[in-house]
Order: sequence, then structure tokens, then C-alpha cells
Amino acid sequence: MSIPPTPQSRARLVVLVSGGGTNLQALIDAEDFADIDIVAVGADRYGIDGLRRAEAEAIPIFVVPVEDFSSRADWDSALALAIAEHEPDLVVSAGFMKILGDHVLDQFSVINTHPALLPRFPGAHAVADALVAGVAETGCTVHFVDEGVDTGPVIEQRSVLVEAGDDVESLHERIKVVERELLVQVVRQLCRSGWSIEGREVVFS
Ligand code: GAR
Repeated sequence: MSIPPTPQSRARLVVLVSGGGTNLQALIDAEDFADIDIVAVGADRYGIDGLRRAEAEAIPIFVVPVEDFSSRADWDSALALAIAEHEPDLVVSAGFMKILGDHVLDQFSVINTHPALLPRFPGAHAVADALVAGVAETGCTVHFVDEGVDTGPVIEQRSVLVEAGDDVESLHERIKVVERELLVQVVRQLCRSGWSIEGREVVFS
């Protein structure tokens, strides 16, 4: 999937969140720098800071909880409909803790930010898994989403050193500082130049 460069217009983004939304905030703060308009923020749950950040900026929100549907496929279909209403050029999963299905992935280009150097430590506990493995270095990855769990083509990665005495919280906080900057840079580059995916390689136009 690819989008052509559209130098005259700002790219329309839908951002999906499940929690604090600091990556969302970095994108909100970088809208002019990155040539983007965040046209909606979607979530799988109510009452999270990510939604409050959107509301504070008067960005439209939608919430599609998995529990409201009898199957994951029905949930995914409803989520795809909610996203489609906002006609995004790109969907950004920024701390969205649900696996997206075919309805969403067949219709939209979706990128995800992940707190590890994929393919190491995929899944929901990446920072804890890196600490348990005793690695000296971990980091973050921005990648396109495919049908697997954190398996899609990598766009860019940044390293973060593990320090003596690190716990999940301290390490994750240091990763997130780097991650927010990386996400903004990647979104800017994708939206300004366009891209194509050739095999596992993401090529900027
Ligand atoms: C980020 O570190 C993101 O990579 C991670 O959740 C955090 C969300 O922070 N996502 C995952 O672990 C997905 N597997 P934020 O809500 O402050 O942006």
C-alpha cells in the first residue's frame, strides 16, 4: 500500500490510543512541523488521558470497546467504520493495546509505535521482557501494521541503553522520550514524501 506525495495538502491522521497518550500529544504538538491534521482520536476504552488530550484540543473522538461486540471481527468492523468517517490518509496506533483485524488493515495504512527493537520483544510487555532477558540495549520501533503481532515492515528504530537499577517504569519512561521524537519524525517523513512498501522494505517516495 502506498500514498502519493501531496505537497499542497496536510495529511489526515486518525490516532488510536488506549492509555496516557503522550505519543498522541507529541503528534498534536507537531501538527505544523509534520504537515498533519489529526482529524480524530479513537480508543478502545473510556476515561483515559489520551481522550482527554484530544478533547482539550477539540479533536473529535470515538470509542469502540471490544466488550460491546459479540466477536472480535464485529468489533474490528465497527472500528473500521468509525475510522472511515474521518477519511484518514494514515492511521497511527500510538499505545493502542488491541490487535487490529482485516476490516481495519484492508482499508487503511496503519503504523504502530512499539517500545522495543523489533523483532525482539513483540507484544504487550516489551519493556519487562527486555529487562528479564537482561539485554544491555533496547529501544523503540515504528512499523507498518500487518496481520501479525508487531511483525509488519519496520520503518525506523532507535536504541536506548539499559541502565543499572532500571525497572520497567524507569526504562519505559526513557524509551518514551526517544519514541515520541521518532514517531513525529517518521510521520512527518511519510506524510511529506509518501511511501511504498516493497517486500519488507519501506521506501520513501
Ligand atoms: C508506548 O510506549 C507504546 O510504544 C506502547 O505503549 C506506550 C504508550 O504510551 N505500546 C505498546 O506497548 C504496544 N505493544 P502513551 O500512551 O504515553 O503514548
